[in-house]
Order: sequence, then C-alpha cells, then structure tokens
Amino acid sequence: MDAPLPGDAVARAYDRWRVAIHAPAISRRTAAANAAFFLPHLTPGISLLDLGCGPGSITAGLAQVVAPGAVTGLDINPATVASARAAYGGTPGLSFTIGDASAVPFADATFDAVFAHALLQHAHSPSAVLREAFRVLRPGGVVGIADADHGGSLIAPETPTLRASLDLMVRVQALRGGDYQVGRSLGLLLAEAGFTDISVSAAGGCDGTPAVKARAAERQARILSGEPFAAFVEAAGLETRARLTAMAEAWRTWATTPGSLWTRWWFQATAVRGNEE
Ligand SMILES: C[S@@+](CC[C@H](N)C(=O)[O-])C[C@H]1O[C@@H](n2cnc3c(N)ncnc32)[C@H](O)[C@@H]1O
Repeated sequence: MDAPLPGDAVARAYDRWRVAIHAPAISRRTAAANAAFFLPHLTPGISLLDLGCGPGSITAGLAQVVAPGAVTGLDINPATVASARAAYGGTPGLSFTIGDASAVPFADATFDAVFAHALLQHAHSPSAVLREAFRVLRPGGVVGIADADHGGSLIAPETPTLRASLDLMVRVQALRGGDYQVGRSLGLLLAEAGFTDISVSAAGGCDGTPAVKARAAERQARILSGEPFAAFVEAAGLETRARLTAMAEAWRTWATTPGSLWTRWWFQATAVRGNEE
C-alpha cells in the first residue's frame, strides 16, 4: 500500500525549513569551485541564464566571468530571489527574476549559455527544465548542468541504521517531487531534450577527516532530528521519531569512529544546442 502523503501545511513547513537549513552551505558555493566544468565554455560578453540560482553566489561569479555580458538568475522561490538581490543586486550586468525553470519567462533563442547547479534534483520534471533550456538557448549556445546522485554514497563502517537514513533522504525527496538520484541521468536527459556534443563527468567527495566528519554528522543529525522533517516523515508513514533519533545518534557514532568515511558523487554535463538548418 502507498504511504499517505503529508498534508499541505506539513509539506510547506518542511519545504521552508529545508531551504533555511541548507541556505548557509549553499550560499558559500562559488563559480570557481561549482561551475569550474562550465567556465571553459564561457567568454566575455555572452549572455547567460542561471536556472534555480538560489542565493546567487555562483550566479555572481558567472557574471564576473562573462562581463560585460548580461547574466540573469532565475528562481521559483520569491524569498530566495529577494536574498540574491540583496546580496548581489549591485553587480554590473547581473539581474535576478522569479520564475519556474520548467516554464521560463523568456523568448526562444534569448541566451548564449544556460547553467543549472543543483536544480534538477528538486525539479518536478527535469525533462521539462531541459526542454526550456534548449528553447531559450540560441542555436550554437551551450548548456552546463551539475547535480548530485545519492545513489553513489558509500559509508564505512556501514550500519543498517545509517543506510536507512541515506535511503530515507531519497524517499523524502521523491515525495516532494524531486530525485536525489538524477545525477547519473544528466547526459541522457540532455540527449532527450535535443542537445548534442554531450560530455559528462563526475566528481567524488570524501568526508574522511575528524573535523569534516564531525561537521557532516552534525548536519545529518540536525536534519534527522529537525521537527518539520520529523513531522513530514511521520505523516508520510516512513519512520517514527524514535527511529529518527537513533539515526541521528548513528551519525554521531560514525563521526567519532577512527578511519570512518562517507563518499558522495556529483555529475556535470555540458552540451550544445546544435545549429539547425
Ligand atoms: C539546492 S538550490 C541550488 C541553488 C544554486 N543553484 C546553487 O547551487 O547554489 C535549488 C534551487 O532551485 C530552486 N528551484 C526548485 N525548483 C525550481 C523551479 N521549477 N524553477 C526555478 N527554480 C527552482 C529552489 O528554489 C532553490 O533555490
């Protein structure tokens, strides 16, 4: 039998809390680190659209790279767009707009480049987003997409409780209409959307030092014992609060286990909107 879906109020509270809990880490992202795979495709003076731009730190870096070209950051969350404008609104050539990446409010062939970092894992239809990216790119324009895939997570020593907590994140994301395993499909989705010259690469990260593991475990524990998360998970019939507490504890034990590690994978893809005859 399918799990019951949490009511709107519980789901909205969970969504707001999720944005808040991840905002500090997301705000520290940079174009140099997170868009490095895309920078060789960019030249000064081109126009660029950053879909699902979030707080805008990567977008602002991209604006420096393509200056004096125009960069637009688009995000569906009005509060996020407001914070991006507050932080980077004064950057020459950079603007932010509220909009849905699966129904982009720009005409066909408007941009020379389209970028999206950590958007597709949240998008209800990654295919629709990439079709829109294709539509608003001019022929010959380039797209750069980066996204995570939690399916590649390795944890050692792995316990059933830790594995269950990783699986839980994937299941919760699916219930919110996203996909924490979209990374592996970036190239296939780009091909389906009509792009050519597709190149896919992957970058793995490993939490393996005491300080990094302590920070990662605290973040995991804070998520698992966060009240809106617990309310959402319980309403969906996925786990009990007691199990969530045990999962949080398992992360803290993992962090203090000598020699333990946690790996994660990100995938990046670039592609071209071919010149149509
Ligand atoms: C994890 S954040 C990534 C932010 C930024 N790209 C980064 O990596 O720093 C995902 C962002 O996508 C936005 N988002 C989710 N679905 C969207 C959609 N359909 N259209 C536009 N933005 C969307 C969210 O509001 C959120 O700000």
